[in-house]
Amino acid sequence: MNAAILDWLNLLVRWIHIIAGIMWVGNSFLFVWMDSALTAASKPREGDVMGEIWLVHSGGFYEVVKRRSLRPQDLPPSPLYTFMWQSYTTWITGALLVGIVYWAGGSLYMVDRSVANLTTTQAILASAAVLIGGVALYEAIWTLLENQPRVALGLSLAALIGAAFGLTHLFAGRAAYIHFGAMLGTIMAANVAHHIVPGQNKMLAATRAGTPVDVSLGARAKARSIHNHYLTLPVVFTMISNHFALTYGHAQSAIVLLLIVTFGMALKYAMNHRFGGNRLVHVVGVLALIAVVTLTARKAPAGARGAYNGRPAVSFAEAQAIIERRCTTCHSHHPTNPSFSQAPSGVMFDDPARIHAMAPRILERAVITKTMPLGNLTGITDEERATLGAWIAQGAKLDAAH
Ligand code: HEC
Repeated sequence: MNAAILDWLNLLVRWIHIIAGIMWVGNSFLFVWMDSALTAASKPREGDVMGEIWLVHSGGFYEVVKRRSLRPQDLPPSPLYTFMWQSYTTWITGALLVGIVYWAGGSLYMVDRSVANLTTTQAILASAAVLIGGVALYEAIWTLLENQPRVALGLSLAALIGAAFGLTHLFAGRAAYIHFGAMLGTIMAANVAHHIVPGQNKMLAATRAGTPVDVSLGARAKARSIHNHYLTLPVVFTMISNHFALTYGHAQSAIVLLLIVTFGMALKYAMNHRFGGNRLVHVVGVLALIAVVTLTARKAPAGARGAYNGRPAVSFAEAQAIIERRCTTCHSHHPTNPSFSQAPSGVMFDDPARIHAMAPRILERAVITKTMPLGNLTGITDEERATLGAWIAQGAKLDAAH
């Protein structure tokens, strides 16, 4: 497909994806917060009341009463609002984005031959298998072990660790992180479609039919909803991780990912408990954050320079020749790589001044994290990376001619 059309599809679908995702996550945050803020009913209220909450927003006052189940005579007049299209829209557009960004265009972002030597077809099949396999495994664990939630939780966390290591040994770092998030997002959408919405529908149907209401359906819906809730911060991180090569481009990218996931879940716990609750969770979260920042910390420029001590002086002409050979097929005014109608991220190396200005990012992407060239399509060598590193460490100087 034409690269510009693919770009537009990407833009529009991503726009919808983000808006739907904000609405879904916002709902999740609001309802979990409301549950935690419920107080005993302030006056007699009919039915199976769990509590009430008063809110004010934009000058209006909202009185919300939560009931575990409804009696036939309490059935609300329609409409009774339910929340599912936010999550379905997020998932559908997310799946489309996996197709547009990762499957189309010859698996450009998925395959890194230094990670795993996959063909395009193999990469696409692996991508689909990860999304389907993740939700199948999660369902199996939580269906078989529904009455042993601690065991199920332990197995799920072990599977999460396995997924982080497995994915970072299968795909290029950036695709590994996105697939980790997409796999969790698929589990979350399946929870809404297969447990939360059907559970509440069955409860309503029983109420309408005047038959006993199975409140365990509500309890299961709530459990799945809490799983989704604790996955929100980790998933949102994976979705913005593209911008941070220091995370997915790290040599220990699985550990970096798991530490950030730990921090995200602990932060959500702390938010839910208004920064109280079990202090151990706070300590684990803070330690995870300190560990990941330390692990990914860059050497100070002086230290980086030290790494190139003893290397002969590198002229700009040498550095420019490497960049022309390995980078400008994509990063130029007129990319020759057919997948790009424009220079990716607007980064162009046609002009010496631009190369000079971009030196810190070139160091980060091509020398330290080795996340550029993309999938090493242009076959840069480690020696060439080191030469670029030395040129930058020596001050990224232009020749007198420039
Ligand atoms: C096959 C195409 C391709 C080649 C070749 C390529 N890049 Fe990139 N580059 C991309 C794409 C796509 C992006 C945007 C996505 C991203 O940032 O990962 C990008 C983004 C960048 C960015 C901007 C993002 C940031 O983190 O600042 C820099 C800098 C960069 N590349 C440097 C390089 C260097 C240096 C080379 C050569 C050693 C190179 N690239 C070769 C495709 C390529």
